[in-house]
Amino acid sequence: MIEHKSRPEWVAVEEFLSDAVVHQGTDLQRAVQSAADAGMPAIEVTPNAGKLLKLLVRASGAKRVLEIGTLAGFSTIWMAQGLPDDGRLVTCEYLTKHADVARKNVDAAGVGHKVEIRIGAALDTLPALEDEDAGPFDFVFIDADKENDPQYLQWAVRLGRPGTTIVMDNVVWEGAVLDPALDEVNAPGIISALKMMGEDSRLDATVIQTVGSKGWDGFALAVVR
Ligand code: SAH
Ligand code: DHB
Ligand code: MG
Repeated sequence: MIEHKSRPEWVAVEEFLSDAVVHQGTDLQRAVQSAADAGMPAIEVTPNAGKLLKLLVRASGAKRVLEIGTLAGFSTIWMAQGLPDDGRLVTCEYLTKHADVARKNVDAAGVGHKVEIRIGAALDTLPALEDEDAGPFDFVFIDADKENDPQYLQWAVRLGRPGTTIVMDNVVWEGAVLDPALDEVNAPGIISALKMMGEDSRLDATVIQTVGSKGWDGFALAVVR
């Protein structure tokens, strides 16, 4: 993993923007607190990024969302809030403990009827989605172990359709994309996934750098051609 280094002014501006514009509901605040109480890592997306996910789901008209990496369900709740009432979100999580906390949080946020949590390593549970014909997914959020980002991107295309929107979190990783020695476990996966974003003829993509409470990072946005 990598150590995130935030500058105080980045965090202050993020708080200002969150308070002035984002207006995160109490359900989401409770989800973050529940993760802290359960001793889970505080690595959920920031509120401004969560709201972006919600708005992208809504703007794209998505009815089926796939998430890889649930944690306590923070990004899950944001995206589910962007779905219509009959929308569906499948989220993949390796750890039962995380899935249990997330289940409580999505239910408490009133979006539980839209959300299914698949427990297990995502590379084991994603093939089942194909076998069950659960797709095509209109929107995919990739946010689990960065080592497997290239495989997750392949699955996103495979389970998607032309027009599917793909968001991949943590693609700058404190600059480790230029200096993989900073994180020899995760940087190679991030770099390969970015190469695929730029070179795979099935994808049309861009990347945005971010700073804030989670340090220096970024997310990639791709649309399946
Ligand atoms: N999307 C969440 C944060 C996810 S953190 C949010 O923003 O709120 C990454 C999560 O991926 C962790 O809960 C971790 O347990 C899970 N994870 C790690 N490796 C995984 C794998 N191989 N398959 C499925 N989930 C995995
Ligand atoms: C970390 C941050 C993330 O956004 C994530 O998805 C996984 C890990 C981290 O800071 O280690
Ligand atoms: Mg992330």
